[in-house]
Amino acid sequence: SSNIRLAVIPGDGIGTEVVAEGLKVLNAAGVKVETTEYDLGAKRYHATGEVLPDAVLDELRGYDAIVLGAVGDPSVPPGILERDLLLRLRFELDHYVNLRPVKLFPGVETPLGKARPEDIDMVVVREGTEGLYAGAGGTLRRGTPHEIATQESLNTAYGVERVVRYAFEKAAQRPRKKLTLVHKTNVLTYAGDLWARTVARVSQEYPQVETDYCHIDAASMFFITQPERFDVIVTDNLFGDIITDIGAAVAGGIGLAASGNINPDRTAPSMFEPVHGSAPDIAGQGKADPTATILSIAMLLDHLGLTAAAEKVEQAVAEDLVERQGARATRQTREIGDDIASRVAG
Ligand code: NAD
Ligand code: IPM
Ligand code: MN
Repeated sequence: SSNIRLAVIPGDGIGTEVVAEGLKVLNAAGVKVETTEYDLGAKRYHATGEVLPDAVLDELRGYDAIVLGAVGDPSVPPGILERDLLLRLRFELDHYVNLRPVKLFPGVETPLGKARPEDIDMVVVREGTEGLYAGAGGTLRRGTPHEIATQESLNTAYGVERVVRYAFEKAAQRPRKKLTLVHKTNVLTYAGDLWARTVARVSQEYPQVETDYCHIDAASMFFITQPERFDVIVTDNLFGDIITDIGAAVAGGIGLAASGNINPDRTAPSMFEPVHGSAPDIAGQGKADPTATILSIAMLLDHLGLTAAAEKVEQAVAEDLVERQGARATRQTREIGDDIASRVAG
């Protein structure tokens, strides 16, 4: 078979550190891969003023998949790299599913104490192209005591239906076959109504899937008190952002949380990245846990149909997590990557 062509955007802060380990593991998996690195991020922005040139975006469309580390740097005003680089990629490449597993691996310490791996095993299907991330907004009388800032949430029937359908498909494939819509229909009555009606309508086609609803505030509580309530969750862009950081915390920490920005129609490459950001507080110190990126690589392999390699990587991570209890806080980024890579190479 031909080489997989991967675009790699290490980005800022710990992004470069964790991506190096992710690629190390990918190579150890024996997958024939050809990588091209893109220097997008804070450094390029400072040097040239460029965030994501159109020509680069067009080039990125030609790859089989994209790996991204993290973007964002204290030296760049908030929003520039986040919106014009990361979110622009998600929007332009139509990553309407932001797939974020929340899974407690055996041996991993959780702040929930008694929770067992079977209690924390869910998948959050976060909408990726709409919501508050894509809506109109503006400011009036900025800087005055009478300032008015608006930020609207965009929800289209087309956009909601396609992500809801994906979530039902996902739920139908899992043993528990349960789908929970998480929203705030008691207050966000226009958007919530569209989401609730869409879930109700599509559910008719999936009688085998149990459908449930939970307000975002209660869901945030239940993530901590009763995570076993959830199997597949479908939710909008911002609720999904927030709840997956809570999910990361309960499943052992943000250093383990993987994600895939998926274009299910395959009209453009999907993009895989850890849930965490550039972590300026620990950048350059070799302290970042690369596991989230390595698990994101496993998702990438799975997306490209390389199921055996994906399982091998996930298995290697699982073994590493069982054996490294206690030593976690003291291990360096590179040591973790080396350990997982050598397990993958077998
Ligand atoms: P963050 O995820 O970067 O960091 C939050 C906390 O988690 C920090 O204490 C950090 O040290 C820790 N942490 C994160 N990843 C870790 C890892 N792999 N191993 C160990 N500890 C880890 O979030 P933040 O501090 O809110 O944001 C920092 C910057 O990153 C901002 O510019 C933000 O916009 C950006 N950001 C980018 C992404 C992304 O690229 N997808 C995601 C979130 C935040
Ligand atoms: C994430 C991040 C991004 C988001 C930011 C950096 C735009 O928090 O990937 O979770 O909000 O989606
Ligand atoms: Mn986030």
